[in-house]
Amino acid sequence: MRKKKVILAYSGGLDTSCCVQWLKDKGFEVICFSANLGSEFSPQDLKKRALKTGASKIYIKDLRKEFAQEYILPCLKSGAVYQNKYVLSTALGRPLIAKYLVDIAKKENASFVSHGCSAKGNDQVRIDLTVMMLAPRLKIIAPLREWGFTSRQMEIEYAKKKKIPIKTTKEKPYSIDKNIWGISVEAGVLEDLAKEPPEHTYILVNRIENTPDKPDYVEIEFAKGVPVKLNGRKMDFVLLIERLNKIGAKHGIGRTDLIENRTVGIKSREIYEAPGAWILHFALQEIENLVLDREALDFKRTAAEKYANLVYQGLWFSALKKGLDAFVWRLMDRVSGKVRLKLFKGNISVVSRYSGNSLYKKSLATYGEKDQFNRSWAEGFINIWGMPYKR
Ligand code: ARG
Repeated sequence: MRKKKVILAYSGGLDTSCCVQWLKDKGFEVICFSANLGSEFSPQDLKKRALKTGASKIYIKDLRKEFAQEYILPCLKSGAVYQNKYVLSTALGRPLIAKYLVDIAKKENASFVSHGCSAKGNDQVRIDLTVMMLAPRLKIIAPLREWGFTSRQMEIEYAKKKKIPIKTTKEKPYSIDKNIWGISVEAGVLEDLAKEPPEHTYILVNRIENTPDKPDYVEIEFAKGVPVKLNGRKMDFVLLIERLNKIGAKHGIGRTDLIENRTVGIKSREIYEAPGAWILHFALQEIENLVLDREALDFKRTAAEKYANLVYQGLWFSALKKGLDAFVWRLMDRVSGKVRLKLFKGNISVVSRYSGNSLYKKSLATYGEKDQFNRSWAEGFINIWGMPYKR
């Protein structure tokens, strides 16, 4: 009889390496899938490790472009930021990875997919829900929810016993997830809420103490909500994000520390670093404030909060999320223009904004001589506006 096939989302780390072996022990043929979303990534190394660990095959894909265009961009346009502090970098990558698990399972005629997410996190929710939505008949195996290892030490013993090649580098005291939209850092030292995060938890962003004493200026141009130019130069979205990450990090921008409401109900503490994402959210909002009317802006803010929750909770492919995309897409029609920003000591400040669709009328706003506002209208307006509140 032929072995049952399973497609495993594989990173090459301890967890997913043990998953390969564990699934093999259960009688599966294991096919690995690794996606590059912007982490440190060596296809050669991944392939070598996967095959050595016992996988029959590995698919390796550079998905940075698709990730940026199809996942980051709609989320940026929507303005979604979870609990006002998390730009959803890890959360956005999961539906993409799950979508590829489903595609590869179809191609390989496999009826199982698997991942190395823990039973306490959000990522299992995101991957499982996406698979359930896209391919309800696929069965999902999450070894970390089933196997008996209760500590990393037990996993390491198992890996040694089974001769699984694990990296000999000393285990970092915290857990990191990295892609082009941001970095998540949690566990270890960060679980102690009474302590300031130590220096080694700064992965990308400069500590304010080390930032330059001279600011940098950047100009970002948007066309219908899409960032298209940086400092006057047309630029591919992935490169634009990478450039902003670098310059923002230098000035200590985009680091947040969040007590987070996980989908499974746990509160956890996570540090996020996402300089480029914060700069882009900031810049886009400046244009929006200039070109959208107040009701549109107000509703968009409410929608952004909902959007963030949907992404966080693994509902990327839901009907509501698609509907919100359509709403945002329609609003973005007007959202073109450019913003000049100053980056300095952890702050982003706006220097100037311009849009051909601007609703700002200096003749109405001015307190100077050329004022064209009809003062005689104000009293009548206030009387009618205030009528319902007058006792
Ligand atoms: N808490 C974040 C989320 O649910 C990130 C999870 C991964 N974090 C990590 N440090 N490995 O989206």
